Amino acid sequence: MPGTNPMFNNNTLKLGIFSANCSSGMAVTKVEERWRNSWENNIDLVQQCDEAGIEFMLPIARWIGYGGDTDFHGGVLETVTWAAGLLAHSKNIQVFATVHTAFNHPIVTAKQLATIDHLGGGRVGLNVVAGWNKPEYDAFGVDLPAEHAARYEYAQEWFDYVQKLWTEDHAFDWNGKYFQGTGVYSNPHPVQKHVPILNAAASAEGRQFAMRNADFLFTPVFDYEQGAETVKEIKQNSAAAGREVGVFTFCTVVCRPTQKEADDYLDYYANQHADWEAVDYLMKLQGMHAQSFTPEALAGFRDRFAAGHGGFPIVGTPDKVADELEKLSATGISGTTMAFVDYAKEFPYFRQEVLPRLEAKGLRQPV
Ligand SMILES: Cc1cc2nc3c(=O)[nH]c(=O)nc-3n(C[C@H](O)[C@H](O)[C@H](O)COP(=O)(O)O)c2cc1C
Repeated sequence: MPGTNPMFNNNTLKLGIFSANCSSGMAVTKVEERWRNSWENNIDLVQQCDEAGIEFMLPIARWIGYGGDTDFHGGVLETVTWAAGLLAHSKNIQVFATVHTAFNHPIVTAKQLATIDHLGGGRVGLNVVAGWNKPEYDAFGVDLPAEHAARYEYAQEWFDYVQKLWTEDHAFDWNGKYFQGTGVYSNPHPVQKHVPILNAAASAEGRQFAMRNADFLFTPVFDYEQGAETVKEIKQNSAAAGREVGVFTFCTVVCRPTQKEADDYLDYYANQHADWEAVDYLMKLQGMHAQSFTPEALAGFRDRFAAGHGGFPIVGTPDKVADELEKLSATGISGTTMAFVDYAKEFPYFRQEVLPRLEAKGLRQPV
């Protein structure tokens, strides 16, 4: 659904930044230079990315951290208010808000996102999270439905309600299974005729939800082959349902002048100085309550979780990083997020060295 939003531009490989609103970003590490999610750092980062033509910023919605020495993700800027601030400090980049369906009433979310879409001149996106993290449900005093499908049934009604609020000009009644309301409306509607929708999930039900409702499924890639299969499945099945749904994934990027420097740095932050207690707890929770990673993938990915919360690792020289991103693009994915240990310090090198190589490969247009 094209519009002026950069999520629908012509770049073959769209790029975003993931989790800059969270303490340590995506790296479950104890190193001193791990990401500080201060407001100043976030503004610095969004402005650098905006100038470089990066398409989007994507936050993680997190309410309770994962413990360990660093209390990984114990410090988190709330995503809707974070998005509002970033939109106010940028010009072109799209900023997602990540919203848990279980913890946010549709009327409130519809109004919040419409408000910040006005604030940003039509640059907000919605990342829908159907829920999995049991300690957060416990904190909210809400039951995490044991049956996985029930989470998506609830999420569907939540989503339909938000869409109705964004498009309906007259007051209406909502008589659903999970929500009821009389004389409801939400004015103003978003500036964008179509707010980009991302659904972060990997399970069969998550994929189906994305195919019904989202513009993009945001999902892990384990290797190039599995990535290509995922894209094929999503494209074929969504086309059969008359929809066009792209696939995004998330990467961990370590880019250095030599391969040895990149490998050594990965080993330093994600092995020698990993916060293993937090890694193990995060993986245990994922294994218990989500179906995003298969049991085999989880068993083999402890190092990937330390390096970047399970993200696809891209480690090496600028040539190697550009080549790997090209291979990722060849799977048919529409784009990826990136995470660096210290985003704001590492992004300038990526911008200077890797972006021109991606442009030379025809994957992106120069700004
Ligand atoms: C790439 C990605 C990003 C996600 N971001 C968040 C998030 O910000 N907050 C959250 O609570 N869950 C997040 N999730 C979890 C999913 O929204 C979903 O609840 C979880 O994957 C369980 O659903 P599934 O079993 O259908 O995959 C994310 C999942 C993936 C794969």
